[in-house]
This record gives sequence, structure tokens and C-alpha cells, in this order.
Amino acid sequence: MAEEMGLRVPRHVAIILDGNGRWAKKRGLPRNMGHVEGCKVVERTVEDAAGLGIKYLTVYGFSTENWKRSAEEVGALMQLFRYYMKRLLKVAKKNDVRVIMIGERSRFDADIIEGLDRLENETKGNSRMTFTIAVNYGSRDEITRAVRRMMEDCAAGKLSPKDVNEELIGSYLDTKELPDPDLLIRTSGEERLSNYLLWQLAYTEFYFTDVLWPDFNKEELVKAIEKYNGRDRRFGGV
Ligand code: IPE
Ligand code: IPE
Ligand code: MG
Repeated sequence: MAEEMGLRVPRHVAIILDGNGRWAKKRGLPRNMGHVEGCKVVERTVEDAAGLGIKYLTVYGFSTENWKRSAEEVGALMQLFRYYMKRLLKVAKKNDVRVIMIGERSRFDADIIEGLDRLENETKGNSRMTFTIAVNYGSRDEITRAVRRMMEDCAAGKLSPKDVNEELIGSYLDTKELPDPDLLIRTSGEERLSNYLLWQLAYTEFYFTDVLWPDFNKEELVKAIEKYNGRDRRFGGV
């Protein structure tokens, strides 16, 4: 499919979905309606990405900073999360997609933690694509937790300072099973990382679009990949 279109598909695409609130506001709707639409788009994007031959898709759904939003919005997001986790399980099974979660899950209610465990366990044999959801994720939190565990292992005599290199650090991060992203997409016109994958995006190409997340679709995904195809990746070389 992607080859027919002459696309070289990046192995790992990371997305910062943004603009749900503004999408709703533009229509005179409550913010939550933007999140509802946004969830549908996540579901469709999983299918589109798998169909294009992308092997890893990683989407930022809820940051460690997003708890600062109103109790009403956080509550509504948790409810949506409960509902979409169940739908995602079906979509993942149908499309042979493995789901993993990155972020700190202990802050969620017990039923959400159970749902996340179930998503991971019941899809762990799937191999067409790995879909990673970043929830209660923040890169600084991830690195802080990694350093803490490294120091604990050191204190326990399992690790020594001379063992520390980039590969070892990577193995302590939540993304230990994932290659680094090739392409990062952020929607809604904002051009910042908002604490997303700071270590992993070291050599990633960035693509920013004004499209609001609920309006994102396969055509937009293909546009981002085409732009990526036109770039010359260097990794520090000439
Ligand atoms: C992204 O949309 C979804 C989450 C961060 C949960 P926003 O809710 O940030 O939408 P805007 O940026 O206010 O438009
Ligand atoms: C980033 O979006 C977090 C997620 C997409 C989950 P935000 O809308 O929360 O980021 P800021 O606050 O504009 O940087
Ligand atoms: Mg936003």
C-alpha cells in the first residue's frame, strides 16, 4: 500500500496529539467533546499506521502535567480512557497490534491499571505493529525514575558506575523495548516537546502541522511521511 504510493515509511512515528480543546471551542462545544473526537482519531490512526506498514506508533495521551487541569476535565478524560481502553483492545486484536503503556501507572485508579495490564497481556503476542500509549508520562519523570532504579541497583551491588553508558541508560527507560522515533508529529500549531521523549528524540525529524488533532487523518499522516521522505537524515555525519 505505502510502497504503491512511493513512500519510504519510517519505522517509528511518535505523535503529540494536541488541539482537542480548541477544536471543540471553535464549534461552541464543551472541551470534552474534543477529547471524544480525539479518541476516535487515535483509534483510526492505529489502523492507518498499521496499514501503512509503520512498525511502531507512540502517542502522547496524558502528561504528568495534565493533572493540573480542572478536576472536571481530568475526571472526564479518565472516563474516556476507561471506555477507549476496551475499544482499543478490540482494535489491537483485529489488527494484530501489540499495545504497551509508558508512564507511571500507579497514580491511576485500580480499574484503569487493570485495564492497562490487560491490554498489554492480551496483545503481547501481536507483531504487525507496536502501539505505545504514553499516559501519566513525562520525560523528566521517566528519567528520574530510571536514575532512582539505577542507584538502587548500584547500592544493591548489581551495577557499578563503570557500567553506565547510553545503552544501559536506555534499558532503564520506559521505552526500553522501542527503537528511537524516526519522525515526531505535533498537531495544532504548537512547536514544543511538552516533556515528551526528551532522550529518545535526540535525532528524530520533527513535523509540525496546524491541523487540530480531531481533524487529523490518514491523508495528514501520509503528508507528514512525504515531508520526512524529502529530508536528509545525518546523525552527525556529513
Ligand atoms: C490534547 O488536546 C489532549 C490532551 C492533552 C489530553 P488539548 O486538551 O491540549 O487541546 P488544546 O491544546 O487545549 O486545544
Ligand atoms: C501535551 O499537550 C501533552 C499531551 C498531548 C498529552 P498539552 O496541551 O498538555 O501541552 P502544553 O501544556 O500545551 O505544552
Ligand atoms: Mg494542548
